[in-house]
Amino acid sequence: MKKALVCGAGGFIGGHLVNRLKAEGYWVRGVDIKENEYDNNNADEFILGDLRDPNVANAVVTADLDEIYQLAADMGGAGFVFTGTNDAAIMHNSVLCNLNILEAAKNEGVRRVFYSSSACMYPEYNQLDPDNPKCSEDSAYPAAPDSEYGWEKLFSERLFLAYQKNHGIEARIARFHNIFGPQGTWDGGREKAPAAVCRKVALANDGESIEIWGDGLQTRSFLIVDECVEGIRRLMNSEFSEPVNLGSEEMISLNDFAKMVIDISGKNLTINNIPGPLGVRGRNSDNRLIQEKLGWAPSTPLRAGVEKTYDWISEQIQQKQLKSSLVEM
Ligand code: NAD
Ligand code: GDD
Repeated sequence: MKKALVCGAGGFIGGHLVNRLKAEGYWVRGVDIKENEYDNNNADEFILGDLRDPNVANAVVTADLDEIYQLAADMGGAGFVFTGTNDAAIMHNSVLCNLNILEAAKNEGVRRVFYSSSACMYPEYNQLDPDNPKCSEDSAYPAAPDSEYGWEKLFSERLFLAYQKNHGIEARIARFHNIFGPQGTWDGGREKAPAAVCRKVALANDGESIEIWGDGLQTRSFLIVDECVEGIRRLMNSEFSEPVNLGSEEMISLNDFAKMVIDISGKNLTINNIPGPLGVRGRNSDNRLIQEKLGWAPSTPLRAGVEKTYDWISEQIQQKQLKSSLVEM
């Protein structure tokens, strides 16, 4: 039986990944600074610990592991990473987790290690035209990410590649492009646009408007978490050891995305574009390399993932409202 460690198992993608590994027959150890709030963590062993502490990394990385998945990071959507107020924490916290996990993997002789990088590492100058962003893997340099979060991801990619070069670690690095889906953060300030828009639509009544940050003409692509987990597993099983995009190529403007969610809800709502943290003007995954190296790329239509996510967020809102009405009684 293969053994894996999932760092960040208390989080969104980590929780889904644990379930996937369990379904494949793995023995799984999870570690996170917090429990998984949606109980989406079926690890055989879950350790509550802070990976900024090298002693925690040394305790969870054991020589019997076949694989490590490093997803622990201080992260969030535009309202968390693009305001500038969390920059020092993001860089400090995430880089310490990466350093400690890699050093422990080297010492224990665990070779295959996955790292979750981000499309945020791509240079801003290639993402100024919302209709024609460039995010091919070979466009990473000259580096000019628009956020410190993106710089940290780029540095950490290099850190994993350096451990690969000098210490025999087999790094598998995916650059995620805005992953969404059930069990993802949907309120509290760290939520990304897909969950935020679903929440706003679910809370609105007919005839009202929902707020969308910016002019709504900025573009993104969004990838449902099931496809993300599929891509992680395929990459881990491959011999490809350079960074590769893991995202959807179905690019959409934020206003059109909001219209899609409104349509799914069946409500009669309008859009109110307001100032807010924006990030890059346009972004889309470029899937030529993943298709070439893995013979696979994500294919689920955006709308199918959004329908599932909208239903789940609507349910979460209802449960929260029910709980608060019971407390008031
Ligand atoms: P998430 O916030 O749900 O999961 C990250 C987890 O890491 C959290 O549960 C958090 O508690 C944990 N963590 C943070 N600091 C820790 C520490 N010091 N010790 C132990 N655990 C710690 O986010 P996610 O969406 O599941 O993202 C997983 C990874 O993918 C992250 O590295 C993130 O940067 C990367 N990523 C995600 C997206 C996306 O759209 N979701 C896009 C690009 C990259
Ligand atoms: N979060 C959020 N909430 N974004 C909104 C909202 C809202 O209510 N309304 C409009 N937006 C806009 C943002 O201004 C931004 O232009 C766009 O929607 C996308 O925002 P996010 O989904 O929050 O982030 P992102 O795509 O810019 O970056 C995310 O994806 C990266 C990977 O592609 C972040 O999660 C990064 O941390 C991640 O690495």
